[in-house]
Amino acid sequence: RKGAPVLRLLTDSLVGAREAYRLSVGAGGVEVRGADAAGVFYGLMTLDQLLRASGRQNCCDALPVLRVADAPRTQLRELMVDPARQFIPLEALMRFVDEMARYKFNALHLHLVDDQAWRIEIKRYPRLTAESSRRVGMDDMMRPIEGFYTQDDMRRLVAYAAGRHVEIIPEIEMPGHEVAAIHAYPRLACGAPRLPLRTASGVSNELLCPGSEFTYEFLGNVFAELAAVFPSRYVHLGGDEAGNPPLGAWTSCPDCRALKRRLGIAADDRADNWRLQEHLFGRVIDTLRLRHGKVPMFWYETDFRTVPAGCVTFAWRHGLTRAAAQAAADNGARIVLCPGEHCYLDYPMRAGDMPEVNWGMPVTPLRRTYALDPAWDMGEDFERDNLLGVSGTLWSECIDTPERLSYMAYPRALALAEAGWSPQARRSWAGFERRLRAVLLDMQRRGVAHSPAF
Ligand code: ACM
Ligand code: ZN
Repeated sequence: RKGAPVLRLLTDSLVGAREAYRLSVGAGGVEVRGADAAGVFYGLMTLDQLLRASGRQNCCDALPVLRVADAPRTQLRELMVDPARQFIPLEALMRFVDEMARYKFNALHLHLVDDQAWRIEIKRYPRLTAESSRRVGMDDMMRPIEGFYTQDDMRRLVAYAAGRHVEIIPEIEMPGHEVAAIHAYPRLACGAPRLPLRTASGVSNELLCPGSEFTYEFLGNVFAELAAVFPSRYVHLGGDEAGNPPLGAWTSCPDCRALKRRLGIAADDRADNWRLQEHLFGRVIDTLRLRHGKVPMFWYETDFRTVPAGCVTFAWRHGLTRAAAQAAADNGARIVLCPGEHCYLDYPMRAGDMPEVNWGMPVTPLRRTYALDPAWDMGEDFERDNLLGVSGTLWSECIDTPERLSYMAYPRALALAEAGWSPQARRSWAGFERRLRAVLLDMQRRGVAHSPAF
């Protein structure tokens, strides 16, 4: 404030692995030395937090002499948002990226498609957005909900986020949670049903037909367009909640039965239908890998039996994290932890807090989010070979404005950011709680919505 401060920024591969940095404050000024550009950026984010000090004013008067040597514990630290259930305007996504980048999150995962809407322009299939991006109602909220992102919108978001070292990971669900696509192109489902867009939450029984070539042609064309928009090496394929009971949809379909015969699957009932899902995923994974050089991601489900090697699985179901982690270890796959018990940030933080109208979501207090250990007691080999990162999900059945999105995310996303970044031995709830006060005051001053209910 008083002298002529010097701020030196440089990259230096000797600093450490990806995203590592060293920050020093001394008589000669401030230096941020990053292993790469992201490391320099994270050093600056730490410096920014130091300058905000107590959070009561824009900038403190002095910094202590200090040295910080810092590096992330996990490679991928993401938040997931759901513009399918309720649309999130592009500008709001940009503001969301601004905030998450402060806490060193490095990916925003967009759930672009579900039973309620298709939100991304696909030039080859214009009916997707023309017919499936507008409806009235989400459960008991009877209001019009509409919008979609053009490919140019997404290119702008990708560039904007890249400037903050955040990558955009697109998700196109399959074979379930696809009613919006089937609404626009009925041939995608067994028997070409005419389906309305879904306005309720929950799970539909309608699935993509794995026995029809049109399904593969459609997905191939969709992923070719997406690959030209999203440079991320990852594509999320969903894969959740298609196993039970909906797989029954494939039992009587003639195309599915023919595929079963070709694959040598004898069962006439639904017992072996999961193998059709395995087949569908196998073909899509091959296309993504061979044609586009992408790493496919999925929500972990036990119906699926195996985790394809080289893919990334997401542990999300309550009580199934150990099974998912073991499956990743057994199959040489990578895993992202977002167990519902800790990481479903769309759940209320306290009984009676938002969302007040829901279908029995469990309460997830801040302290429980903080308690996540991404290694889940699986040992050092698991952490080194399998653990890719952490995710906080913000499903939007009950999130109807950008302010509410922020309110649900914070402060739990701060706890998750620390779980994904800092080594377990350096973390403590007491330390987090003390540091949290200053960050929340700063958020309040900046007008960033967050919940006081913790
Ligand atoms: C999920 O929450 N259905 C992944
Ligand atoms: Zn079928």
